[in-house]
Amino acid sequence: MTVATIYIDNEPRQANPKQNLLHACLSLGYDLPYFCWHPALGSVGACRQCAVKQFRNEQDTAGKLVMACMTPAADGTRISVVDPEAAVFRAAVIQGLMQNHPHDCPVCDEGGECHLQDMTVMTGHRSRAYSFGKRTFRNQYLGPLVNHEMNRCIQCQRCVRFYREYAGGSDLNAFRLRDSIYFGRHEDGVLESEFSGNLVEVCPTGVFTDATLKLHYTRKWDLQMAPSICVHCGLGCNTTAGERYGTLRRIVNRYNHQVNGYFLCDRGRFGYEFVESSLRVRYPLLNGKAATKGEALERFGDLLREGNVLGIGSPRASIEGNFALRALVGPDRFFAGVSDQELQLMSSMLRILRAGPARSPSLDEVGRSDAVFILGEDVTNVAPIMALGLRQSVRQAPMEIAAKLHIPEWLDQSVREAVQDAKGPLFIASPYATKLDDIATTTHRAAPGDVARLGFAVAHAIDSNAPEVTGLPPELERMAADIASALLNGKNPLVVSGASCRTQSVIEAAAQVSWALCNVDHPAALSFTTPECNSFGLVLMEPRPLSEASRTIENEPSSTLIILENDLFRRAPASEVASLLRGVRHLVVLDHLENATTKAAELVLPAGTFAESDGTLVNNEGRAQRFFQVLDPGTDVEESWRWLREGSLATGFKAETQWQSFDDLTTAMAAEMVVFASIPQVAPSRKTVGKIAREPNRYSGRTAMLANISVHEPKPPDDPDSALAFSMESGPESAPPSLIPFFWAPGWNSAQAINKFQSEVGGPLRGGDPGVRLIEPPLEPSWRYSSAVPETFRSRADEWLLVPIFHIFGSEELSRHAQGISELAPRPYLALNPVEASLLGVKAGEQVKVTVEGSQFEFEVVLRADLPRGVAGLPAGVSPVEGVTLPAFGKLAPIPAELSARGAS
Ligand code: SF4
Ligand code: SF4
Ligand code: FES
Repeated sequence: MTVATIYIDNEPRQANPKQNLLHACLSLGYDLPYFCWHPALGSVGACRQCAVKQFRNEQDTAGKLVMACMTPAADGTRISVVDPEAAVFRAAVIQGLMQNHPHDCPVCDEGGECHLQDMTVMTGHRSRAYSFGKRTFRNQYLGPLVNHEMNRCIQCQRCVRFYREYAGGSDLNAFRLRDSIYFGRHEDGVLESEFSGNLVEVCPTGVFTDATLKLHYTRKWDLQMAPSICVHCGLGCNTTAGERYGTLRRIVNRYNHQVNGYFLCDRGRFGYEFVESSLRVRYPLLNGKAATKGEALERFGDLLREGNVLGIGSPRASIEGNFALRALVGPDRFFAGVSDQELQLMSSMLRILRAGPARSPSLDEVGRSDAVFILGEDVTNVAPIMALGLRQSVRQAPMEIAAKLHIPEWLDQSVREAVQDAKGPLFIASPYATKLDDIATTTHRAAPGDVARLGFAVAHAIDSNAPEVTGLPPELERMAADIASALLNGKNPLVVSGASCRTQSVIEAAAQVSWALCNVDHPAALSFTTPECNSFGLVLMEPRPLSEASRTIENEPSSTLIILENDLFRRAPASEVASLLRGVRHLVVLDHLENATTKAAELVLPAGTFAESDGTLVNNEGRAQRFFQVLDPGTDVEESWRWLREGSLATGFKAETQWQSFDDLTTAMAAEMVVFASIPQVAPSRKTVGKIAREPNRYSGRTAMLANISVHEPKPPDDPDSALAFSMESGPESAPPSLIPFFWAPGWNSAQAINKFQSEVGGPLRGGDPGVRLIEPPLEPSWRYSSAVPETFRSRADEWLLVPIFHIFGSEELSRHAQGISELAPRPYLALNPVEASLLGVKAGEQVKVTVEGSQFEFEVVLRADLPRGVAGLPAGVSPVEGVTLPAFGKLAPIPAELSARGAS
């Protein structure tokens, strides 16, 4: 049965019989209080808050109290939500919880956005009957990202269930002593999970709060908010950005069922502080000195008039910014702002997804896969929320054990008891240990080429038409056969790979495995991680390789180069970039933060970040998603496309860039490039939906907030580019999904208000989840197996293959400028296998000289037993390694302590 009829207060209602009654009631719009249940975590019946009266049949008038979250929504079930006994029970539960809870909502940092506060009001509890002391706890230091205030705890258990069972963390737990339960770490210390920030939203009260917000606190109802997209990796998690007094105050999750669901990673949640970094470029700079906007535009116009203009785009700029630059300089003078290596890898991924039969899955589909093979990726550090999804994927196959015992999926504790430690198949082949190894069926550590060889062997084991891999040791033959068999047994097999190994054959091998599955009529999904928030968007723009920019500049020494939101020194060796920049007569850079490239520029134009701009990003799935301006910068900061338009206006001759608004720009882009034809549909325009307020109707102080400047309330800024308005008029209820600025409904002030916007709780948003897919498999796939199986890796006598090692904190360019993230980022190091370190004569903590690609560095040695022989690692994106093209063979030499100077030479 797909639909059940249940009776709620004698009203027949349609429900999903696979759900519990709480889930069904909330989906049907009933206001039934709850704490321990969470749509992503299921039911444990711990809080007793969701009590309803259940009746055996129509004649039963006595009924009995049941917990709605523990009772199936079976056909014919009769319950009462308003039953007085149930209502008194729920109020009594709250009364019990509030006995020890601080009655300090007006000064609590969760106040105004607190689920406990909402549920207390909902049940009608008003005053504390118990007049004695309250239980108190000592709080812990949990690191720079999450704050701890244990006195607020109501023992619902959600935090540990999320942290340990859902996210795989181990350092947060429930500690019991007599009648007290303490939720924290065994001692003070930084929370180890990359997903710890979700505790801020998972905890229904204020035990875990955003420690970065605390540094510039504002009341949640005083935030001006806008829908946004995370810019810190290629997954495109949906976020809500919050502003007060012209500064960005925080990022929270924005629910998108297909993408990030209820969760964000800590880089995405806390990386936002780069927007307020002291390195922000807020006004134009001309020859290193502050200039007015007029002076900057005049100079920009002069340079454009001189002609010979080249443009370098960026994978961290919106497609609108990239398109504006491409339109200004012309398609044949528009170059990729990534290394040739990265462009080639990204282009290969795109080609594979567009040519072959394997579809790129949404993150929701990743979580529902039941057999996974990961090639060459440390997913947790590269695409963190995908790793959270993969942690759920290994629960899919064992669910059959629970199904056989007729245990519904939502009955979490019973499912876990039935399943015990059983996990579905997940295989990882990578150059070093990854944070998903604890859930892996088998792991294989090898140099990138050997990772690819295993992939090719799996493809051959699935489909003998795929090329054979010769010379594999028997244990790897067996491993390949096991992986092939597990993928063939899965109902939803998934292959994951990406650019982290920076090795073409790894990507080809992943494609080959997924295609082999499709070829034997076993459709598989293929998910590539992408390095940056708009990597696919940039490649879809068909830029020319960066190396060709150098060649063009050599032939045109009088040219002007425009670099869009990009620090080229992170893309290629410093000497190459310096030579490229020296070759041009004039350098114009548009960017957010001062960096090595802005320092070299004649003209720097302050480009808006995601917080000050509207734009579209294309994620690893190929989903185009829109972010919206949340704050008026009050400085010369503008979207890059607007600078480019205004510069071109100053020349008076570039008809291609005369867009008056964002809508004009997206319409022009859709007309010019067929791949972007659906971009205008990513979010409806103001003409279609009218105005949607960025400010909640509880927003306060608008009249007074600028009173230090003038007692007359200024006119709010206009936003000509989107349907969002800098106003309090018109709430979020009627906003289309892509334009919901915040989730709020009467009586629901916390993150749980999302319930009121979903077609069913935990399901898609009403009106559909935001985003438009731009990349789909072709109707008639045109692929064929590649026979380019790499040779077996051979370690060298005096050289090591240096591979990049990724870090969630530190490897990404922008977030490392956030204070909390920078505290957690690693210092540069060289990772070496202990056996080889001992042969080299170095110990952990000692210095070693690394010579690679003509550069020399001095790094501290870190020992990692997981590294294969002949392979060493350098932290990706961490200065001074960032511009080095890896993997590459390098020489290592110990440095005697007395000669150690640390850093690059
Ligand atoms: S800390 Fe929060 S989530 Fe954890 S048990 Fe207490 S109230 Fe629940
Ligand atoms: S997984 Fe990526 S997109 Fe999602 S929140 Fe983290 S950094 Fe942002
Ligand atoms: S929500 Fe039902 S017992 Fe907690």
